Amino acid sequence: MAGVVEALERSFGSRSVITDPEIISRYLIDWTGRFKGDALCVLRPVNSWQVQRALEIAREFHTPLTTQGGNTGLVGGATPAVRGIVLSTELLKGIEIDAELQIAKVGAGVTLSELNLKAGEAGLRFAVDLASRDSATMGGMVATNAGGIHLIRYGGTRQQLLGIEAVLGNGCLITRMEGLLKDNTGYDWPSVLCGSEGTLGVITSVVFKLTPMPAHRSVALISVDTIGGALRIMTDAKTRFSQLNAIELMSRSGIELVQLLGGDRWPFQAIGAFALLVELSGAFIEVEELAEFLDSHDEVADAALANDSRADGLWYWRERHTVAINHAGIPRKLDVSLPIRAIPAFVGYVNELVEREHPEVKVVLFGHLGDGNIHVNLLNVDESDDELDHEIYAGVASYGGSISAEHGIGRAKVHDLTLTRSDSDIESMKSLKRALDPSMILNPGVLFE
Ligand code: MLT
Ligand code: ZN
Repeated sequence: MAGVVEALERSFGSRSVITDPEIISRYLIDWTGRFKGDALCVLRPVNSWQVQRALEIAREFHTPLTTQGGNTGLVGGATPAVRGIVLSTELLKGIEIDAELQIAKVGAGVTLSELNLKAGEAGLRFAVDLASRDSATMGGMVATNAGGIHLIRYGGTRQQLLGIEAVLGNGCLITRMEGLLKDNTGYDWPSVLCGSEGTLGVITSVVFKLTPMPAHRSVALISVDTIGGALRIMTDAKTRFSQLNAIELMSRSGIELVQLLGGDRWPFQAIGAFALLVELSGAFIEVEELAEFLDSHDEVADAALANDSRADGLWYWRERHTVAINHAGIPRKLDVSLPIRAIPAFVGYVNELVEREHPEVKVVLFGHLGDGNIHVNLLNVDESDDELDHEIYAGVASYGGSISAEHGIGRAKVHDLTLTRSDSDIESMKSLKRALDPSMILNPGVLFE
């Protein structure tokens, strides 16, 4: 590895290669504070040619290279597991909106908010939305196949992706930036690279589908006493409303943590065991329809309704969960997916397991109920003790679920991948890795052990 920093400096100039320990420290810890790493330097390329050259140098010096976008992934996938180069995409900017075709061509370092600000000028938006919109980057969202709050209606990041430009680990620059809706000419690079967590190549630009910005939003915050009740409301809402945009779940422990942030007041007298947030969006305000719908459900203990900008006040309770949990400590974030029918049994399994074997642990359950995606957050877990995570993942596997719904595997779940992917499945993924990154320099320690 000796000499790699000097080689990078010769190619890029010393201002593009950061080695000052104080400056690089922010690239060496993930957003939760759980995953830490070390690096020889941070490199901030400004175009795909520079990315290609960086990979060439990394290969020449056998130096690991970890790609980092907004650093808001929650499984340590962008925090270097091995000391090498951190390639930050933050200067890979540029947004081109084609309003006629309803597509956007964006640099990997563009944030979700930046894209939506620009798309909004044309009455459009990117369909995937998430609370970390001000820092999450387009390259990172593609690399992790981010899901977000509108997946039930529009699908996740993969379903919006029409094109990609990336430098593969073998040095090849792949350019599929035409933005065609149909292109059936063999292996589909956008699909291959989406969700690959920086292990196959460095994404430099992408082409996304955009969708028209809805004129109105109607939102209900609903308090319910049981998870079964929440599921019945959800199932009915899915058949009743064609404009359903989100069905999110919260539970008492999470709402209490949000309350501790000291912002808004919880709109009901008591905090029920669970709360649902249902959003409809489209050409009309539909709060009356939502009110009628909720009246027909005995499971509803309390409900509050709001539309358009006032809906943000109800969303506050869901969107502040991640921050509120981090305020309470460094969490274990288990983002799992389950067959919807199995959710009540799974929730019971987690609560009983923790009560019986780890009563000191605080469980915060929330997530995207409409997608069967539960975020199991655990507080007060000893850093060196992974046993509870494994037991919960084993439970997920036994219910026919997946150990990662939308955050990816990263560093957090490499030891549990075999629970929901077979040996031949993993071996085939490794063959792909060896073919596209033959020097095995990209994101070591991520996805595979
Ligand atoms: C969310 O749904 O808010 C995100 O996935 C973040 C998280 O899980 O904390
Ligand atoms: Zn989520």
